[in-house]
Amino acid sequence: MCGIFGYIGTENAVKTCIEGLKQLAYRGYDSSGIAGIRKGQLVSIKAEGKIVNLEKKIQLKDLELAPIIGHTRWATHGIASENNAHPHIDSKETLAVVHNGIIDNFDSLRTFLKQKNISFRSETDTEVISQLIAYHYEGNLTVALNKTLSLLKGSFAIAIIHKDFPNQIIAASRESPLAIGYNHTKKERLISSDPNAFLGRNLNVFYLRNDEIAVINRQKIEVLDAHLSPIIKKTEKFNSTLTFPTKEGYEHFMLKEIFEQPNTIQKAMLGHYSENFGTAIFDNLNFSNQELMATRHILIIACGTSWHAGSIGASMLEDMARISTQAEIASELRFKNPIISDNTLVIAISQSGETADTIAAVREAKAKGAKILGIVNAQNTTLTRESDSCLFLKAGPEISVCSTKAFTSQITVLALFALYMARLRHMSKEDGKAFLDELKKIPDVVTEVLQRHEQIQSLAKKYSTFHDFFFLGRRYMHTTSLEAALKLKEISYLNANGYPAGEIKHGPIALISPKLPVIAFCANHQTYDKILGNLMEVKSRGAPILAFAPYGAHEVQEIADDVFWLPPTIDELATYPSSIAAQLLAYYIAKEKGTEIDQPRNLAKSVTVQ
Ligand code: G6P
Repeated sequence: MCGIFGYIGTENAVKTCIEGLKQLAYRGYDSSGIAGIRKGQLVSIKAEGKIVNLEKKIQLKDLELAPIIGHTRWATHGIASENNAHPHIDSKETLAVVHNGIIDNFDSLRTFLKQKNISFRSETDTEVISQLIAYHYEGNLTVALNKTLSLLKGSFAIAIIHKDFPNQIIAASRESPLAIGYNHTKKERLISSDPNAFLGRNLNVFYLRNDEIAVINRQKIEVLDAHLSPIIKKTEKFNSTLTFPTKEGYEHFMLKEIFEQPNTIQKAMLGHYSENFGTAIFDNLNFSNQELMATRHILIIACGTSWHAGSIGASMLEDMARISTQAEIASELRFKNPIISDNTLVIAISQSGETADTIAAVREAKAKGAKILGIVNAQNTTLTRESDSCLFLKAGPEISVCSTKAFTSQITVLALFALYMARLRHMSKEDGKAFLDELKKIPDVVTEVLQRHEQIQSLAKKYSTFHDFFFLGRRYMHTTSLEAALKLKEISYLNANGYPAGEIKHGPIALISPKLPVIAFCANHQTYDKILGNLMEVKSRGAPILAFAPYGAHEVQEIADDVFWLPPTIDELATYPSSIAAQLLAYYIAKEKGTEIDQPRNLAKSVTVQ
């Protein structure tokens, strides 16, 4: 898993490559490195940790390299050290490889190479690729690469430079995205795991797949299939006017993105509803109303925060549209032989559109004939290309690894889709209008919570002294509690367990003590009385309680030590105010702890290994 960037062109290649890698840091930031050719020799610089460490090393050298390949790593095989950082160079020091993906059979290949007296410098699976290419090389790099690819099992996108070909980058891919962009007039060639890293450029872009090899130099780009026959790739115009977002005065991207939510929720709704008809509008939905009406079952697949949004969406689809809906974790689903019938609709949710498990589950569902509706934030991604139809969040780039605004935008798109499906079936225009009225109030509801952030900050001060937490809720508040606990875990490294409040008496209550606070989400009206009972159970065992409850829920005040009052809304939408409050709580606790909020340890924004 990781980000790859490569450049041939007239700009300062090192600078361009570093800028490109910064755009890809969401794919991992355990280490980074670059390699290029200078005066016929391979030159490589690597650094442990974030790209800024690499930049510091490079600044000391005043380096010019062309062509160049670069890499930002999320450690899989081997610790996050400089030694394991990419690029990986073969033992004869002839070539350098950067790699995204996992080589499943690296161990047996390594043993084979060791038997040939080839010694290894790192613990990575990637080094096997560089050593194998060098082992097979007899003057023709493409042939050596092709032989190597035929021996690899797993998924990969790779880029290679070789000192015998000082003007060339060679690249290949299997199941991992690799975009190649070119501009003939400026004679620029760029390679990236994600075309969104081609910021501010007008390029023709194509994607490598199925063991295709691209031989890229200033004069031309040649693409070969797995039999080394030349092929013509279909290109798309890629016109990016985007620039990298800034923190705009906020201390962290996470805080900025939390505060953006009244706006991003509004954007997800804009143009997507009709007040007159009390329904949603999706101009780009490539499914006919007949197809949607025939849907008997919906399968939602996603990972992490997107799975939490999917679970809330599943409840809305069942409650509002009365369609049996299941939200499955993608990494589990793909090994389950999912039941997909003619009238199953599969919805894949992903902020990045690149999560490897989600993509793999989508491919499994497609192989069984399913139609895929993608709900995605980032454009030009693997998921957008592989979906039959896509609904976009339009939340803008989410930079903080801990997802906040994408989550509430996903809920918004799902709420509108649930409304659409419900109105196609039995929901009356009046009920549709009533739901829309509530949904339209959400940006104000969220603003109200944000305005009281200082209150949450002081609660965070108090609760940051604990090490373990239970986050409890029922129905819509159950998934909300899972997402809230995930936020705290991700950025403060504290142990937070999200749990259905009614279930803790079946075991977890054994953990309750005055040292373990309960964060209670009480905004689900249907189960309000029941959660009061659950809170009494934990209170009588000494747990400190912080409750998030709607105004007027005075019974909660009698039980909880602290209450943060939430503006009211209906159960289906109660996640919004509760989640915003929980995001702020996690943020301020992490601040108390002094952790790296935007790029927490061990995480990546987009997990591109399975
Ligand atoms: C990573 C991120 C999470 C995200 C998950 C799914 O684990 O750190 O914040 O929810 O991937 O990502 P996706 O891009 O598919 O929504």
